[in-house]
Amino acid sequence: MKPLKVALLGCGNVGSEVARLLVEQADDLTARIGNPVQLAGIAVRRPNKHPDVPAELLTADVWSLVNSDIDMVVEVIGGIEPARSLLLAALRSGKSVVSANKALLAEHAGELFAAADGSGADLYFEAAVAGAIPLLRPLRESLAGDRITRVMGIVNGTTNFILSAMDETGAGYAEALEEASRLGYAEADPTADVDGYDAASKAAILASLAFHTRVTAANVYREGISAVTAADIAAARALGRTIKLLAICERAVDDDGTESITVRVHPAMIPRSHPLASVGGAFNAVFVEADAAGQLMFYGQGAGGAPTASAVLGDLVAVARNLVVGGRGPGESAYAALPVRPISRANTRYHVSLDVADRAGVLSTVASVFAMHDVSIAAVRQQGRGTDASLVIVTHSAPDAALRSTVDKVAGMSVVRDVVSVMRVEGEEL
Ligand SMILES: NC(=O)c1ccc[n+]([C@@H]2O[C@H](COP(=O)([O-])OP(=O)(O)OC[C@H]3O[C@@H](n4cnc5c(N)ncnc54)[C@H](OP(=O)(O)O)[C@@H]3O)[C@@H](O)[C@H]2O)c1
Repeated sequence: MKPLKVALLGCGNVGSEVARLLVEQADDLTARIGNPVQLAGIAVRRPNKHPDVPAELLTADVWSLVNSDIDMVVEVIGGIEPARSLLLAALRSGKSVVSANKALLAEHAGELFAAADGSGADLYFEAAVAGAIPLLRPLRESLAGDRITRVMGIVNGTTNFILSAMDETGAGYAEALEEASRLGYAEADPTADVDGYDAASKAAILASLAFHTRVTAANVYREGISAVTAADIAAARALGRTIKLLAICERAVDDDGTESITVRVHPAMIPRSHPLASVGGAFNAVFVEADAAGQLMFYGQGAGGAPTASAVLGDLVAVARNLVVGGRGPGESAYAALPVRPISRANTRYHVSLDVADRAGVLSTVASVFAMHDVSIAAVRQQGRGTDASLVIVTHSAPDAALRSTVDKVAGMSVVRDVVSVMRVEGEEL
């Protein structure tokens, strides 16, 4: 049997593990695919930095490798260019692609799928979201007969590590970030993680698959965790809640039956009893709700060389099997083309913690502002006296814009000395 030739682009954290597994598991992979797979070459920027890789496999000329006589490309370079041009060229010439590149898929899935459709090649990217966790295949294939209503999860290990540390130790954000960097959980430049860009890319990919709609990172409302304070964490704790950075993709139906979706990434309070609350450290977990299936939860290692390589290898086997039998995996499914609602029209719930004047009638004065904005209050806690007087309000769900203007109005009231914490609330309705 003629071996299927694989070009590996990138040999860093993920690529080096893909290369190792391809060699170590060669016999098993052959048996599972029904055909041997051959690593035809590995492209890197600096070949001299890879003494462990057989020299005859290494090249700094990534274009020659992609244009050579190969059957598929595994891209673990990262970033938009040159990855985008390389993968478009590969797909246009009929070479199937496996990629772990969330940034690329969140921006350019449309043109990559179009190139794949044009030549009949495959495009798989399980490793782009939540590392080792099988999540995209269930959305694309296992749940293809169901109607997904919601996908909500923790998809960024760095921010989860930081928020877990803040929750466990009472540390502030800066201190917890420093600890994450020291332990290798945060990059030297943590912007993509802490400002929510990484999670927003993943949310775009999840929403596209869940709702059969093309969603890009630009459609995702994004708030990172750098504004989360120790006071927010303490306020959550006092209510039996914890704070997580969540990626939330929801289907919304208006009274007239018109459907749309919301896709957002922001910190939120969830009950400590919620399954996502116990997802600690660098782990990822994603909840999927579908009409017929009900609730599903996917949990595991969301990053790291070997876990991510596991997902890449799974895709590689799928592509290789398709090549052996002459079939194709699923292409882009964007037929529903649902409009994406702005955050202002997303229904959310708020937790608002206020320092207030110790005066009779404060609660009713504040409550009247909520009523004025059509925001109904689910729970109130009033405590302390004198300069310690505080008011904690948790709302029922309302359009985010109404909640925001309520908080703005409340912040300007003379009876309110300080707005201590404002946080969206997810999980069960109070
Ligand atoms: N690391 C994870 O835990 C993880 C998890 C999920 C998904 N991913 C995704 O997987 C991809 C790779 O991540 P990584 O952590 O493995 O990155 P990495 O450690 O930085 O490795 C990148 C590799 O790509 C090579 N490279 C960069 N630019 C190149 C170019 N223009 N031509 C040829 N080779 C080039 C680098 O070569 P040199 O070695 O010579 O510099 C390096 O080997 C990214 O898309 C990332 O988002 C990573």
